[in-house]
Amino acid sequence: MTNIKRRNFIKSATAAGVGLACSPGVIAGKNMFSGKDEVSVAVIGTGNRGRSLLNLLVKNTSVRIPAICDVDDNALAQAQKILQNNDRGKADEYTGSDYSYKELLVRTDIDGVIVATPWEWHVPVAVFAMKNRKYVGLEVPAAITTEECWELVDVHEETGTNLMFLENCCYDRETMAVLQMLRDGLFGIPVHATCGYRHNYWGSNSFIEFREDSADNKHWRNRHYLKRNADLYPTHGIGPVANWFNINRGNRFDYLTSVATKSKGIYEYLENHPEGGRDHPNAKLDWKQGDIVTTIIKTSNGESIIINYESHLPRPYSRDYSLNGTKGLWSGEYMRRGIYVEGKSPVPHQWEMGEAYDVYMKKYDHPLWKNHEADAKNSGHGGIDYFMIQAFVDCVSQNLYPPIDVYDAATWSSIVPLSEQSVAGGSEPVFFPDFTKGRWINRKPSFGL
Ligand SMILES: NC(=O)c1ccc[n+]([C@@H]2O[C@H](COP(=O)([O-])OP(=O)(O)OC[C@H]3O[C@@H](n4cnc5c(N)ncnc54)[C@H](O)[C@@H]3O)[C@@H](O)[C@H]2O)c1
Repeated sequence: MTNIKRRNFIKSATAAGVGLACSPGVIAGKNMFSGKDEVSVAVIGTGNRGRSLLNLLVKNTSVRIPAICDVDDNALAQAQKILQNNDRGKADEYTGSDYSYKELLVRTDIDGVIVATPWEWHVPVAVFAMKNRKYVGLEVPAAITTEECWELVDVHEETGTNLMFLENCCYDRETMAVLQMLRDGLFGIPVHATCGYRHNYWGSNSFIEFREDSADNKHWRNRHYLKRNADLYPTHGIGPVANWFNINRGNRFDYLTSVATKSKGIYEYLENHPEGGRDHPNAKLDWKQGDIVTTIIKTSNGESIIINYESHLPRPYSRDYSLNGTKGLWSGEYMRRGIYVEGKSPVPHQWEMGEAYDVYMKKYDHPLWKNHEADAKNSGHGGIDYFMIQAFVDCVSQNLYPPIDVYDAATWSSIVPLSEQSVAGGSEPVFFPDFTKGRWINRKPSFGL
């Protein structure tokens, strides 16, 4: 698609004030990639996540990968290996400076770009990409300050260039089934949900090797834990819940309040590590990030949502999803995966679990999952990455409005700075900006339809 054609398409789509849920292929769960025969996608940030997405892109024969960018030669070399192992040509490399991405993004032969850099580079790269008319796929969280959230929205509106927020957890099989159940009225009127990101980062983010005064970006997350006290990773939890509650589409987040515990987990790790101890320099740093940050959001339609962020205590991984409605409830938590529907569940006050639970999940399985389970099987995070990347490629190839848009990116990611403000202010309520500027009232639910 030429830039001119693309501009016309976007103009007519935004002028009409509509956003297509996703490409027809994605909506109906049938053949995907029904747009251009070939689409060219570049990857900026070829670290762990960038390479994992690249691994999916190379499996799609309609995707060309002409260019990659990273400041780390080793990350680029590993990305080239992926291309080589999949019989792809070598991609042009952009490296040498933090701003090398600009040289890549001014190229005119690139349709879309995946941004998988550290958080602080998300917005500068995405903004430059939109200004250069590249369809952006932006990793999570989209932004880490409220100003950055606004910048994404403003530049999208100024340029008409699309941005898909790559919140893969929206494609989680069970939460998509729950979305179907809600739309079918199984739980009555939704009232409350829980969600979160509970993942012990000790293994993947060494606090021992981190050097506060070093410019190396291997341990970039640690700088945030050192300086901030917030829910730094809210969107894996809130994405599916925002879809359940039609956020930015007839409903909106009104305000939140957050509380953080003390910070003990990082010290425990440092002091007990074989190379650590109480005298290790990093054990003497003043780490700001609390071990658990709990946020409660109130929506304009009257629902409440609890979001947990826990990254430095020993624990199994969890995203803590649950939902309560006037007719029943669902819990996706590992130890209590169950459902209860008043008047339908056979034993009053008791969860339906095991096989009885599976019957619901099968009945409400989303068509995407029903039709593409085998394709998704070996992709990342239990299959969700497959659906996300296919939706992105499909949207780029036809320049469709994305299923998870810039307003979702800004609203969900704003929980980072707003929770930080609330924690710092003694759990004061903090009101959400309306990134849609009132359009949430008339926008219609679209995800998964
Ligand atoms: N959706 C998911 O499930 C998921 C999973 C993991 C990570 N992520 C997100 O992906 C992003 C990357 O995380 P990661 O774990 O891959 O980190 P990483 O450190 O492994 O990779 C980041 C890469 O970006 C490069 N980089 C840094 N500054 C750059 C710049 N100015 N220009 C170009 N490249 C630059 C680094 O050298 C590194 O190779 C983060 O936003 C993270 O939150 C998402």
